Amino acid sequence: MKITVIGTGYVGLVTGTCFAEMGNEVYCVDIDTNKIKHLKKGIVPIYEPDLEELVIKNYKAGDLNFTCSLKEGLNNSDICFIAVGTPMDEDGSADLHYVLAAAKEIGQTMSDDLIVVDKSTVPVGTAAKVKKAINEELKKKGVNYNSLRCV
Ligand SMILES: NC(=O)c1ccc[n+]([C@@H]2O[C@H](COP(=O)([O-])OP(=O)(O)OC[C@H]3O[C@@H](n4cnc5c(N)ncnc54)[C@H](O)[C@@H]3O)[C@@H](O)[C@H]2O)c1
Repeated sequence: MKITVIGTGYVGLVTGTCFAEMGNEVYCVDIDTNKIKHLKKGIVPIYEPDLEELVIKNYKAGDLNFTCSLKEGLNNSDICFIAVGTPMDEDGSADLHYVLAAAKEIGQTMSDDLIVVDKSTVPVGTAAKVKKAINEELKKKGVNYNSLRCV
């Protein structure tokens, strides 16, 4: 299965690496060019037991890929996990700015049916907002992918 993970932070990197270790083809996407450059060299910015070893092993095997291009990451993907940050807003609620920006970009980029999973910590109702953001972009392109689901 081809899996895309948007956001290669603590959650995205660990999730993507575990999926690759399970035998999936994984693309970890991030807007932080430095982070992606370092990961391609095997430099892992966080510590989790065995993570660095698994990142290097799966990257070398071609099962784990790092890119700043969502187009490259989403090409022929079956599932896309959104794992971007949700910092606390002024009123204590989760700031969905990054999640909805990622959703918009998915809509602009996807070229086939896709299952989209909100992996970021988000309040109830966010899946509907993500779906709406994606569908607005699909509408602009004049396309309709029926099996789109946001979990
Ligand atoms: N860190 C944890 O232990 C933990 C545990 C449970 C849940 N969470 C939740 O998971 C989510 C991610 O947390 P984290 O700690 O991994 O965050 P993080 O800040 O470490 O990583 C987020 C990454 O997303 C990238 N990003 C932002 N917008 C992007 C976009 N449009 N396209 C591609 N990349 C983009 C950032 O550059 C960053 O590398 C949050 O909602 C957080 O609350 C975190």
